Amino acid sequence: MDTLPSKNYSQLKKVHTFLMRYFSIWEKEVLNYYPESYDSFPSNWVKEILNLSEKEKWLIDSKKSFSPIQNTELSNIFNEINNLSDFLSKKFEQSSNEPTDCTLSINERTGLKIKKQHEIEQLISFIKEEKSQHSMINGFIDIGGGKGHLSRLLAQKLNIKGVCLEMNPEFVTKGKALIKEQDVTFSCAHLPEQDIERSKKILLNNRTSSQDLCLGLHTCGPLANTIIQACVGNEQTQLLNFGCCYLKLGPGKSIGISNASKKYALPLSKYALTLATRAHTGLTWEDYLMKRKVKSFRYGIHLFLYDVLGEKQFINVGDGKKQDYQGPFSVYVFKKLSHLGIQCKIEASEIDHWFFQKEVQQKIDEMFCMNIIRWQFGRAIELWILLDRACYLEERGYETKLGEYFNENISPRNIGIYAKKLSNEKHL
Ligand SMILES: C[S@@+](CC[C@H](N)C(=O)[O-])C[C@H]1O[C@@H](n2cnc3c(N)ncnc32)[C@H](O)[C@@H]1O
Repeated sequence: MDTLPSKNYSQLKKVHTFLMRYFSIWEKEVLNYYPESYDSFPSNWVKEILNLSEKEKWLIDSKKSFSPIQNTELSNIFNEINNLSDFLSKKFEQSSNEPTDCTLSINERTGLKIKKQHEIEQLISFIKEEKSQHSMINGFIDIGGGKGHLSRLLAQKLNIKGVCLEMNPEFVTKGKALIKEQDVTFSCAHLPEQDIERSKKILLNNRTSSQDLCLGLHTCGPLANTIIQACVGNEQTQLLNFGCCYLKLGPGKSIGISNASKKYALPLSKYALTLATRAHTGLTWEDYLMKRKVKSFRYGIHLFLYDVLGEKQFINVGDGKKQDYQGPFSVYVFKKLSHLGIQCKIEASEIDHWFFQKEVQQKIDEMFCMNIIRWQFGRAIELWILLDRACYLEERGYETKLGEYFNENISPRNIGIYAKKLSNEKHL
């Protein structure tokens, strides 16, 4: 008897079809592939953004509203990207500000950034709910647990025992110093990403039972896939995982682990993986203005290298400090060129004059607008990566749901994978 494809499988297919349609837009970074990148962006799209005021551009870039380009082809595409998240089993909803027994006290907040406080409170409250409803959560193993803030507070608040497994010995020492009661055990271990059998053994040696909730908060790059594969191999009954730093997955490699991802494969360059990691944060107006300034100098120096100094290959000028973008463009150029060992006999005044020419500013603006368009695709790429993980778990007999656990503006990598092993009869 044929079975219906799962929600995650259908969504992976949908995300894949969507992304392949706009491959040339998101695959490459606008700057690195200048001038070819111009060919990937329909000129009417670029014009539409170009004609907007800065405030309107910000509304779009920060995803606050697409109303400035209402009823255009571009706004339909952006809305389509947003709608790709409609299948999520839960959307983040801000609960009331009334404190609950999951709210951290002032003492418990000490030393934790706002983002970490928020994540920990949300996870404690979710796990508490699950524990009370149907799940057999009696213990946990927090992998890549850092200094163990989540482990410590989860154990304290919900009165459950757990293990915090972390490869960095300094974090382990610091984490141990923070625990008062022995409800969390620290273990310093590295899960080798290429060796699932060894990773399985490490988890087996550290877990209390197969019923431990296998937690991973912001398990960077390949660590998420290693944890998922090792947990499945060990028949761990439940898992909650958040990925991050997708660039570390290794661009150009076959990133997918599920059978579904082989069918709907997505070639992911380093630029695409970076986009999946960075995009869709809640950009404030001040952040936008800074980004505008940084991009203006970054695009400017690249055009200067290309058009004036004749450097036709992309040269990475590296990141700068905030103050590098505050002074004249020529000061920024001289600093970067000297760092790169590139000779330039052009006077500062001439460089600044070149920079402020209408055609140069026009090109910079166009590239900035292309970047705004490209930026929107980050979430869709991230969804493909997470759906692949969900499909892998489903293919191996886990009921798997993707949901938003955190406020995206506070913690942008907010989609978690929650998987529970089905009994054999249900799987068949
Ligand atoms: C982004 S941090 C997240 C830390 C913590 N979970 C949190 O959210 O605050 C990822 C952590 O995973 C650890 N890590 C990365 N790869 C690992 C591996 N293969 N085995 C064990 N720990 C690993 C890192 O040392 C780091 O502390």
